[in-house]
Amino acid sequence: EHVALGIDIGGTNTAYGLVNRNGEVLFEESVTTTDYSDPEDLVEKIYQDVKNKGFLDNLLGLGVGAPNGNAFTGNIEFAPNLKWKGVIPIAELFEQKFHRPTLLANDANAAAIGEHLFGNAKDLNDFVLITLGTGLGSGIFINGELIVGSQGFAGEYGHIRVVHNGRLCGCGRKGCLETYVSSTGVVRSVEELSSTCKADSKLNGLSKITAKDVFQLAVAGDQFACEIVDYTAEMLGIALADFAAFSNPKAYILFGGLAQSGPYFSEKVKKHMEENLLQIYQGHIEIRNSALHDMNAAVLGTAASMFWKAIKK
Ligand code: BGC
Ligand code: NA
Ligand code: ZN
Repeated sequence: EHVALGIDIGGTNTAYGLVNRNGEVLFEESVTTTDYSDPEDLVEKIYQDVKNKGFLDNLLGLGVGAPNGNAFTGNIEFAPNLKWKGVIPIAELFEQKFHRPTLLANDANAAAIGEHLFGNAKDLNDFVLITLGTGLGSGIFINGELIVGSQGFAGEYGHIRVVHNGRLCGCGRKGCLETYVSSTGVVRSVEELSSTCKADSKLNGLSKITAKDVFQLAVAGDQFACEIVDYTAEMLGIALADFAAFSNPKAYILFGGLAQSGPYFSEKVKKHMEENLLQIYQGHIEIRNSALHDMNAAVLGTAASMFWKAIKK
């Protein structure tokens, strides 16, 4: 049976898995991206793993999703949320090791394709997938087509400026959306925002605060944690309301770490979006949660699905 290897390189974790023609994940694994100081070492680790599991012979090709991944060049270019700096010829590195064709996509674009093929966007021609992880990414479908733009970098929505002179972003600019709405943005909000209930928050007892802690405590009723989640939802809701004016999507699909709490977060985002939408759009745009949240699905929803789609053409 032929298989494709899907790899989802993230700022924090890299997931990979082997997928068959029916979209079933046969084997899956996850490693910490920051453990690999060079991309070559990560490529080597994945290669050894796939080889040891005996999947090399039946491997048709690879699909890789990565932040700042460019499908035109096969390079990861100047990714603010990866330790690897500059231009990384990631598709070439995988091809040289595996001797198989390798396709690269922006991670959010790949997730959008996955959601379109296997998940909650099957019925949609016009939607935007938003990934909420270490950074914020977007994959934009208009008229049934993924928008890639003139250089292949369309959809860098995490880097629209939402606050004049705001938080310093990894990209070097100030006030980018992802400095507020991402797992790292949530932690910065905990540090920066003041509130009358901050002193009583259970967050104070934690040695290292993560976005997951903030969401868990918010669900449990911690007042300050609730305020942080609501602030994050408002920032995102306003940005999504603005984006509607650009592509008039039928739905936004929330994917990644911050979306894991499901309706708890998406309903707040929806409320803030609705309050800020132009009247002509009000009541017409859905916010859905990803159908591909677990790790199998992340791999499916990123590179492997992109690979299957590409070879179908
Ligand atoms: C990058 C995007 C990526 C997103 C999510 C952003 O910082 O610029 O390319 O899709 O993070 O990983
Ligand atoms: Na994108
Ligand atoms: Zn930025």
